[in-house]
Amino acid sequence: MNKTIAVTKGDGIGVEIVDEALKVLDRVAEKFGHKFEYKYALIGGAAYDKYHTPLPEETLEICKSSDAVFLGAVGGDKWDSVEPDLRPEKGLLALRKGLGLYANLRPATIYEALKSASPLKDYIVEKGVDILVVRELIGGIYFGDRKTYVEDGVRTAYDVEKYNENEIKRISKMAFDSAMKRRKKVTLVDKANVLDSSKLWREVVKEMSKDYPEVELDFMYVDNASMQLIKNPSQFDVILTNNIFGDILSDESSQITGSIGMLPSASISEIGIHMYEPIHGSAPDIAGQDIANPLATILSAAMMLRYSFDLEEEAVAIENAVEKVLEEGIRTIDIKEPKGEYVKCSEIGTAVAERI
Ligand code: NAD
Ligand code: IPM
Ligand code: MN
Repeated sequence: MNKTIAVTKGDGIGVEIVDEALKVLDRVAEKFGHKFEYKYALIGGAAYDKYHTPLPEETLEICKSSDAVFLGAVGGDKWDSVEPDLRPEKGLLALRKGLGLYANLRPATIYEALKSASPLKDYIVEKGVDILVVRELIGGIYFGDRKTYVEDGVRTAYDVEKYNENEIKRISKMAFDSAMKRRKKVTLVDKANVLDSSKLWREVVKEMSKDYPEVELDFMYVDNASMQLIKNPSQFDVILTNNIFGDILSDESSQITGSIGMLPSASISEIGIHMYEPIHGSAPDIAGQDIANPLATILSAAMMLRYSFDLEEEAVAIENAVEKVLEEGIRTIDIKEPKGEYVKCSEIGTAVAERI
């Protein structure tokens, strides 16, 4: 199979972790007889530095003319004082919007070998953790009206959380369809005791659930959900939620699995060009030290093979190799569990590739 992949490494550890994932993809290509052509493009701070915009037109064009997009991470303290619309993060948001990536799938699973690395007690993680956060990605407060101004001499700002029923329907369908392939449970996480937008989510999701009689649907307020995730994460199968709650709850879920460096994601579009990226950021505090955990990015490559290219066997080969690496005690230093020795970021891709 011949595929073109737009590769946007971004900033900070983005560069380091993507290089590891490409080693793994190259190995898959060699072993299974595929050809992956990488088209590199700048995004985020790196693009701002060169073109004075975090998403150059050329980058969007490269992404739109590729079969999939593979992204590292964007942002960093260096661009903190850049005007808001030119911040690196705006480049990522514009790319998500530009490709119509409405559904962000963020699986949080705990590997057997990492159970002792979870900050949760053994009796909690022993039951297993296998959650899929289905996060709406191109609506809500991230894209609603916003303004900073002075009102009656007082500095004021607002950001609007707004959804229409069509936006809710399409992400809900993704959640129910995903649940059908899993343990058939959807938990809608919202703040329907306060927010009108959440009330609309509940209405629309309840209506949609009629098409999925086999799926158990329940509702949970986001404050309770953030507590339940720690108390009893195994109660969750699919968590369906809006853009901002999904952002927060997926970082929280990652910690249960041992490290934020473990969680991959797939962002699904209606036009068929999907994007893959770890859920974490550019980690400026550790960038350039070759100590970042590239497994979330490597696992994102597996998701790309599965969702964009329908290469299930190849995806599983990567996932199995990651599992082997962890079982052998090979890990980066973010996984605070001195079971084996800590290795460098740049050794992990090779270790995974060798086990494929
Ligand atoms: P972050 O996810 O970059 O880092 C949070 C903490 O987790 C840091 O201590 C970091 O060292 C650690 N960490 C993250 N990924 C790791 C990995 N793979 N291996 C080991 N440790 C890892 O979040 P932040 O510090 O809040 O944000 C830093 C920058 O990244 C900001 O500019 C933010 O906007 C941006 N960001 C970008 C994305 C993205 O590109 N998708 C996601 C989140 C944050
Ligand atoms: C993520 C990030 C982004 C988000 C930022 C960088 C815009 O935190 O991908 O989780 O909030 O979606
Ligand atoms: Mn985030």
